Amino acid sequence: LVVIRRRKALAERRARAASVIEELEGIFSTPIERLRLIADEMVEEMHRGLTSDSSASCLKMILSYVDKLPTGDEKGWFYALDLGGTNFRVIRVLLGGRESRVAKQEYEEVSIPPHLMVGGSIELFDFIATALANFVATEGEEFHLPEGRQRELGFTFSFPVKQTSISSGTLIKWTKGFSIEDTVGKDVVAELTKALERQGLDMKVTALVNDTIGTLAGGRYEDQGVVAAVILGTGTNAAYVEHAHAIPKWDGLLPSSGEMVINMEWGNFRSKDLPITDYDRALDFESLNPGEQIYEKMISGMYLGEVVRRVLLRIAQEASLFGEVVPPRLEIPFILRTPHMSAMHHDSSPDLRIVAAKLKEVLGIANAPLQTRKMVMAICDIVAKRGARISAAGIYGILKKLGRHTVQTEKQKTVIAMDGGLYEHYSIFSECLVDTLRELLGEEAASSVVIKLANDGSGVGAALLAASHSQYLGFDES
Ligand code: GLC
Repeated sequence: LVVIRRRKALAERRARAASVIEELEGIFSTPIERLRLIADEMVEEMHRGLTSDSSASCLKMILSYVDKLPTGDEKGWFYALDLGGTNFRVIRVLLGGRESRVAKQEYEEVSIPPHLMVGGSIELFDFIATALANFVATEGEEFHLPEGRQRELGFTFSFPVKQTSISSGTLIKWTKGFSIEDTVGKDVVAELTKALERQGLDMKVTALVNDTIGTLAGGRYEDQGVVAAVILGTGTNAAYVEHAHAIPKWDGLLPSSGEMVINMEWGNFRSKDLPITDYDRALDFESLNPGEQIYEKMISGMYLGEVVRRVLLRIAQEASLFGEVVPPRLEIPFILRTPHMSAMHHDSSPDLRIVAAKLKEVLGIANAPLQTRKMVMAICDIVAKRGARISAAGIYGILKKLGRHTVQTEKQKTVIAMDGGLYEHYSIFSECLVDTLRELLGEEAASSVVIKLANDGSGVGAALLAASHSQYLGFDES
């Protein structure tokens, strides 16, 4: 009798699991026609965002003031500072012109204590400036600046900034878990410069760039075919090279190159065609920035694991997925990180050992039956693939805006420089993105489009832009 009862319970659990997965597949689904609609809306919003600076569009389409990309002629020692996620990096490069390219590169990575992400502005900038000062103190013998010159820095600040010039801009809002009220509306270069002065560090910020812009610049330095950059990491965003005459809101002088790099801030994209579920609504509602960055919250590394946690919690509550008691740790927001999710999702062992290990280690769930582990894996698949597929739709939108979505007659490939840990480390995600983009483009057009991983290109990119906007340009190079 016990055996029969157990079998019955198992059969019931299976049926319940199957129907839950089916329901999830329905609400998270991204059929190709829907992706095409999303891409079209992306294009429409791009137009709208380029037309006016008001809030008429969910896309800010920020002018970067970068109107010429690196040529390869950049020379000298430059610093870069990269702030945008949970880590920040300080970088020192020696640019050697066409011959030696990036002749030397040194960097250090420092993690940001979580309390500084939600504390005061001065504390954050002091922390950064201190790390930079410590790094400057490690300059080797070979470091050399021509007589009387200041050190120069490219500042990669990966948040929405209203640029007022290549080397200044005010913070519009924080994203990605940062929330420091007193920085909003301030010029972040002025804030950094004051902090550098407090450290007694004589350094000039000559370029302020978003990570997308840094990646685009670094990507173009390596490959002339680069026309856009996409970040898929803690957050997500894209930048691309636009014709200056296609930017109605640009009221300055037309740049001689005729081009301007645009930071789309696509993380804030929203569209009626995005498959937004109750899980996404609840996540957004309880986030630090409700109502904002909706696309980012469905795609990026900061949130994917959290979406999965919310789905698991609901099934635990409503269908006793993990037994009669809801595992208490499953109720802790953000406890399931995207790297955990990725590790489970890539588990290829027949008994899903890694899924079991992560459930135990992260959520305190021991002895989950195989059936349950399979279900967890299926949920990771549904959430990750929705993110990958809607990102592909965004990229397809950019290609459409550029007229590069059809078969090209010229030989030059259309290259998208990609950076970010999500794309780099979550291979099911990146493979799905690439496949979906190919599906959207069709085989023939897809053969001239390449996504190129530009690993940490944004740091070098910022140094390159610091060089091409150096205050000493035109001076003797000696
Ligand atoms: C967030 C930021 C954006 C950045 C992106 C990737 O979306 O708002 O500026 O580029 O994350 O780091």
